[in-house]
Amino acid sequence: MFCLLLLMLPHLGNSVPIVQDERGAKIVGSNEAKEGEWPWQVSLRKNLEDPWKHICGGSLIHPSWILTAAHCVEGDKNDTSKYMIQLRQQNLYKDDHLVPLEKIIIHPNYTNVFEGFDLALLKLQSPVQLTKTIQTITLPEASQIFTPDMECWVTGWGDIAFGVHLPPPYTLRKVQVSLMDALTCDREYHQRSVLSAGRIIFDNMICAGETGKDSCQGDSGGALVCDVQNTWLQAGIVSWGIDCGAPHRPGVYTRVTNFVDWISQHIQ
Ligand code: ARG
Repeated sequence: MFCLLLLMLPHLGNSVPIVQDERGAKIVGSNEAKEGEWPWQVSLRKNLEDPWKHICGGSLIHPSWILTAAHCVEGDKNDTSKYMIQLRQQNLYKDDHLVPLEKIIIHPNYTNVFEGFDLALLKLQSPVQLTKTIQTITLPEASQIFTPDMECWVTGWGDIAFGVHLPPPYTLRKVQVSLMDALTCDREYHQRSVLSAGRIIFDNMICAGETGKDSCQGDSGGALVCDVQNTWLQAGIVSWGIDCGAPHRPGVYTRVTNFVDWISQHIQ
């Protein structure tokens, strides 16, 4: 719903006309993931006009729990039967094995993506069997500091440029992005902008990406992960952005370290 709003925002937010630059852009600006990489990546499916259509990404953080964005499930948060989870898949929709949900927990402070708190926990009806290709992602400690020099990646089946869907066979894509703290990102968002003069990017958000390298519509809920001393840790959840891969408009992510206590409260 708000993604529709975001479709219009680039036209408000920039005084120059938007010319979609492709530059080989995928997820935006990416490559195909290898089989076996990103084993925590899941696809959140919803029973729409197209049955069990991919609506968002998510990450497996425990054999029974998925972390995703609140805005992915806000419409039908009390109806678990409308959703299913597909665990790590190389090509979306190929040999689906959909897993039903038992419970949806949206962060109690969530109202809309611009205010942050864009996270939700999805409990699976039964725990998944971990395999070589299906693994959990480690959450950071609340005190973990993520810095721009770290190697970070975002993955998903989302649009390959603003308004351009990933074509069949819908192979999972990845892009390496560099992190940006909320204050720096806020300054970026105020460049060439008619958005509010006040704060746009809050401290419970973290940004990543640059011109031509970004997540996009359909990647929401997926994990932004960083290599910290040879372990992948989840630093962010794809939340929002203006356009995809546009100059001065990095992708905005829910900052996971702010919520690890809330998450562990629910996952026992
Ligand atoms: N709201 C979008 C979704 O629901 C995510 C957009 C991310 N945008 C970006 N430029 N990083 O899929």
